[in-house]
Amino acid sequence: MSDKPWGGRFDAPTNAFVEAFNASTHVDARMYAEDIAGSRAHAKMLTQQNILSEDDLAAILEGLDDVEAEIEAGTFEFTIALEDVHMNIEKRLTDKIGDAGKRLHTARSRNDQVATDTRLYLRKRTDELLTRIRSLQSVLVRLAEEHADTIMPGFTHLQTAQPVTLGHHLLAYVEMFERDAARFMDARNRMNQCPLGSAALAGTTFDIDRAFTANELGFDAPTGNSLDSVSDRDFIMELLASASICSVHLSRFSEELILWMSAQFSFIELPDAFCTGSSIMPQKKNPDMPELVRGKAGRIIGGLMSILTTMKSLPLAYNKDMQEDKEAIFDAFDNLEGCLRVFADMLPDMTVHKEELHKAASSGFATATDLADALVRANVPFRDAHEIVGKSVAYCIREGIELHQMPEAACLDIDARLGVDMVQALSVEACVAARDHVGGTAPNQVRLQCELWKKKLESEYA
Ligand code: ARG
Repeated sequence: MSDKPWGGRFDAPTNAFVEAFNASTHVDARMYAEDIAGSRAHAKMLTQQNILSEDDLAAILEGLDDVEAEIEAGTFEFTIALEDVHMNIEKRLTDKIGDAGKRLHTARSRNDQVATDTRLYLRKRTDELLTRIRSLQSVLVRLAEEHADTIMPGFTHLQTAQPVTLGHHLLAYVEMFERDAARFMDARNRMNQCPLGSAALAGTTFDIDRAFTANELGFDAPTGNSLDSVSDRDFIMELLASASICSVHLSRFSEELILWMSAQFSFIELPDAFCTGSSIMPQKKNPDMPELVRGKAGRIIGGLMSILTTMKSLPLAYNKDMQEDKEAIFDAFDNLEGCLRVFADMLPDMTVHKEELHKAASSGFATATDLADALVRANVPFRDAHEIVGKSVAYCIREGIELHQMPEAACLDIDARLGVDMVQALSVEACVAARDHVGGTAPNQVRLQCELWKKKLESEYA
């Protein structure tokens, strides 16, 4: 007899290289707890339906406990000859308890088994990712509160645009991570249906109770179509899409931190514990963590391309191609979790050079829009105001001064409607304070948003 659970119809052994090439234990062994949980639920259901005896169930449950303990103790030996986590566990169970173990696979296929295990495993990992996102959001809200009044230049086209507060800038990322969390939760809700009982593709001839297993495993309901159940990998595509978008957000944040830490910006300094030096240039302190996080976006997005391409044009139902579904999503989740963790740990110890930020916001004519707004309040049409301020800026560049330093004569010379009181009233503090409406950058609004976020995040944790 062959050592393979499916060996009956085969005469010759598997080619040695094929055995290794075909195996997925190195990837799917990490789903052992979910595989065992699925088997427990399936065995209980079979017993409730009088398909398995109580004695067999008792032996199976005890045997599965032992197998799980062996895996956790590190004494279990996964073998590629048994291809995947499912057959490794089933074989070990059978070695331990005999015929009862051989009965476990009644009314089940590895196709519904792997679909179930993967959903269970990714559900757990999604919950862990959500916790990481929430922690990072909390860190950002605390920092935003601390920097509600810290003025910095806001950029468009990476050119100085208008002054903003650092708190406001940080809260922009809290919003992005909120949408990321929502995408993960949405995908989680949609995938929380139980494929078990779909068997190979068409269902089973046994009188099974699919609602029982679904409930036992914490799914909302059994899936509605057996063919779809074993061939659907939408949940992996959705989770990888969510992970990709989240990693894109992190890469944008990374890029800003890297720029801000350069000597040319000097806005911040990241803690030593999160930077490294150069082996040749003694002066260097490199922002490796944001750089690495920025880089991780590449492989996570690559994972999304990989699963989309694997699934494209696949006929129903299960195809072996689909064994390639796990590596990319596991890698993406591992790395995204690492990125979120490193950011949450690093940011509280970031040094913010407030004077530099203020200096940068005060140069580059960041208050120009506010001068135009002052003219509009004095009944100058906006397009005229824009032109007047444009000329004022050109004058200031020639003279090497800032707008608020313009002498009265120069103002009058540019346009009679341009009052020296208007230019003298310009300050970056006034600029940010004036943007005092929902979503504006005013310190008041930042503090208000922080309060809202704290309440929301507390309730998410509860
Ligand atoms: N190792 C396989 C996978 O990950 C399990 C399902 C195999 N099913 C099959 N009929 N060969 O997709």
